[in-house]
Amino acid sequence: MNIKQIFKNNHNWVQNKLNLDPNYFNNLSKGQNPDILYIGCSDSRVTAEELMGVSPGEAFVHRNIANMVPNTDLSAMSVIDYAVLHLKVNHVVVCGHYYCGGVKAAMESKDLGILNPWLRNIRDVYRTHNDELREIKDEDQRYKRLVELNVQEQCINVIKTAEVQRAFRDRGLTVHGWVFDIHSGKIIDLKIDFSKILKDVMEIYHLE
Ligand code: CO
Repeated sequence: MNIKQIFKNNHNWVQNKLNLDPNYFNNLSKGQNPDILYIGCSDSRVTAEELMGVSPGEAFVHRNIANMVPNTDLSAMSVIDYAVLHLKVNHVVVCGHYYCGGVKAAMESKDLGILNPWLRNIRDVYRTHNDELREIKDEDQRYKRLVELNVQEQCINVIKTAEVQRAFRDRGLTVHGWVFDIHSGKIIDLKIDFSKILKDVMEIYHLE
């Protein structure tokens, strides 16, 4: 990629925005008021705003390898805290995607250096759901199912946080688990039973 082209693209983008609305950047600089926190994969094919069809200012975004929400990851925890407590988003989305390289790597027993501790979180998802996954003989189907189960487990990690539980109680915040299907371009709603998970989670993780 020619890096200079990016500056040309940016220049054109600025012009297009100003042609539609001369105050576009003035308004953008006043502040943000997003309603959605989107947690997705860093994969270059899975964008956040573009696939949801939202504009700058509409989604607070966190992306990392395999859309993980590890309980001890200061970055993910800070993003959730800031989005829920200060920006007061009403929706938290964890969006995985089929053919995720991070999930694939976690399925293989290879030494991947610094990636090992990160991928171990996905291997723990595999271990937790080993009974179900073992029954899926087709490797491709097992891979896709692990992507879905990983989204579900990361939603649980989101729900474990005190600020999400408080926001649910105070203003009805909801958590959604999605998978982006690269083959069709469609977002699949896994229809995670938020209130049931919350009930189960709160038995153990409930914070006053
Ligand atoms: Co991925």
